[in-house]
Amino acid sequence: MAQRFVGLLTAGGDCPGLNAAIRGVGKAANSLDTQVIGYLDGFRGLVENRFIRLDSSRLSGILTLGGTILGTSRDKPHRMPAGELGTVDMRPFAVANYENQHLDCLVCLGGGGTHKNALRLMNEGLNIITMPKTIDNDVWGTDVSFGFDTAMAIATEAIDRLHSTAESHHRVIVVEIMGHNAGWLTLGAGIAGGADVILIPEIPYDVEKVAEAVLHRSYAGKRFSIVAMSEGAMTTEEALRGTLEHGKDDDDDSDDAIPVGHVIESVSMRLARRLEELTRLESRVTSLGHLQRGGGPSPTDRLLATQLGTTCARYIVEERYGVMVAIRGGHCVPVPVDQVAGKRKVVPLDHPWIESARLVGTSFGD
Ligand code: F6P
Repeated sequence: MAQRFVGLLTAGGDCPGLNAAIRGVGKAANSLDTQVIGYLDGFRGLVENRFIRLDSSRLSGILTLGGTILGTSRDKPHRMPAGELGTVDMRPFAVANYENQHLDCLVCLGGGGTHKNALRLMNEGLNIITMPKTIDNDVWGTDVSFGFDTAMAIATEAIDRLHSTAESHHRVIVVEIMGHNAGWLTLGAGIAGGADVILIPEIPYDVEKVAEAVLHRSYAGKRFSIVAMSEGAMTTEEALRGTLEHGKDDDDDSDDAIPVGHVIESVSMRLARRLEELTRLESRVTSLGHLQRGGGPSPTDRLLATQLGTTCARYIVEERYGVMVAIRGGHCVPVPVDQVAGKRKVVPLDHPWIESARLVGTSFGD
């Protein structure tokens, strides 16, 4: 059996667990007579032919490291920024570099946008396998993405810590949590941290209802409240007007949209201001931002990334191309990339987490 050659890249926002996944693919592939090269800085490294060899020395000592040893970017091969030229379609360079390296397959680790880019390259003839990574947990077709568990733990710890200061000062604290247009991270951390109000994009909120929930606690002698708010949360009016104000980019790639609210007035700052007006209770904002993506992966994410990575190596040897390695019910399964690309897994309104939260008295502002 001839030796195989595989390229691997990490694209979109980084997250804890990427290095564990690179290690899983690399170590398992090397043991199956397959050499792996890692392209630097996402798809940009592929079109510019910048890579490193992922031999055993590069794969050692990275299981617990945060970020990605390969670097990442949100660049798309079909619309690569090129200075004064604007953007250029660099797909022919990606194809040429793949062929010149005699690659059997390209492994892409990423979220929503990465899956769209991977499909575009699949349509140019490349053999592709993907793996779902993102703290947002919004990749369609998999129960969970690696990075989510770690980010949820970080956000939960933040809510835990905010409790004591909110209580001491009798304040309302609105904590803004990432997650793009999906509420998984806020919902999970909000429930685990015991937030009093949870606002997610899937359930548009009414600011008066949020104020009511806060005042209700205040009348009951609980002189502080924690509001866990998704960066993509929207009021019922905003939901009716459409999602334009929430910063969807023109290509709707969840790997690269940055909510416009962060530049002008964040959703959490706006809410805190309104809550102060409506309740007369002092309100503060904590935006967790990129802290949620920093640092090493949790044990659960290390396990998941290793399981997905080593299964990916098996798929490479079996020439099972055009699929994402997903996890369902604890088992890895192949899901066609063309089914994943362009879809987003949002929180279903009948999700058991929502039911449990409501039963312990959490308000969703609806
Ligand atoms: O997709 C991961 C994510 O952290 C989102 O939750 C967030 O909206 C976005 O990336 C932030 O992007 P950037 O790191 O480019 O500011």
